[in-house]
Amino acid sequence: MTKEAEKQMPKKTVLDFREMKTKGDKITFLTAYDFPMASFCEKAGMDMILVGDSAAMVVHGLLGTVPMTMDQMIQHSQIVRRGAPATFVIGDMPFLSYQVSRESAIENAGRFFKEASVDGIKLEGGRRVIKQIEGIVEGGMSVMGHIGLTPQSSGQLGGFRAQGRTADAARELIEDALAIEKAGAFALLVEAVPPEVGRIITDRLSIPVLSIGAGMYTDGQLLIIGDMLGYFEAFTPKFVKKYANLAEIIEKAMREFGEDVKSNKFPEERHCYRMLDGEYEKLQALLRKTLSD
Ligand code: KIV
Repeated sequence: MTKEAEKQMPKKTVLDFREMKTKGDKITFLTAYDFPMASFCEKAGMDMILVGDSAAMVVHGLLGTVPMTMDQMIQHSQIVRRGAPATFVIGDMPFLSYQVSRESAIENAGRFFKEASVDGIKLEGGRRVIKQIEGIVEGGMSVMGHIGLTPQSSGQLGGFRAQGRTADAARELIEDALAIEKAGAFALLVEAVPPEVGRIITDRLSIPVLSIGAGMYTDGQLLIIGDMLGYFEAFTPKFVKKYANLAEIIEKAMREFGEDVKSNKFPEERHCYRMLDGEYEKLQALLRKTLSD
């Protein structure tokens, strides 16, 4: 497909994602939190963008996702929407924006749609958030489920660790996945589980199943933008493939700038504005006159 044809592609819908699953056409999915990265995602033809609460760690420098607020997530989502107007954007519901009650879940999900024009929202948890998923779906909004390693409850899970590694734990995840589909979610994200578990869930569900660290048999793949571009340096999970090392490139460029400034190599003539013709001489004359008055 030519670049021109790609540009004219309409925004994908939940029906397109279903069809992609049926056809075995893999869904591409990255996180973004700001305008430049959102526009790069759109130019690169990503199928979906997640405005993840991982912004807490990747952008805000926090140690976990729990402190993120609704207002912060709405603002990131508005910015991403502006950068990627023709891409399916999903807002990530932050901690305590949906756990408390079905009503608050519907209201907070609604804010993402009303204030940031997202196409869907994502929330973490299995059977324990079914009434929230049902409520949001009944409110006419598209919901993506998220099971496996769920960062908002990583404390309960004993840290950021792989899930579903025993038969019993895997079976619980499969039950969660089936319940989420039944509740009306349009897709499910599965994080940090063995590929066999990712495959069983993908085969059993008719909605698209996306993986972040759930192996190669799912209907699509998500990576965190700071991980895959190599600019988030705090830690790198096993499931990440780095496609660039922006941290190295950025640091090198900044060091060069610092050295150039200190050694007067920057700015050069070509970086400077010129006074209009004859104006410098006029200024000199003015200054001479002012001094002699
Ligand atoms: O916030 C996020 O980016 C996420 C991913 C870790 C799946 O929820």
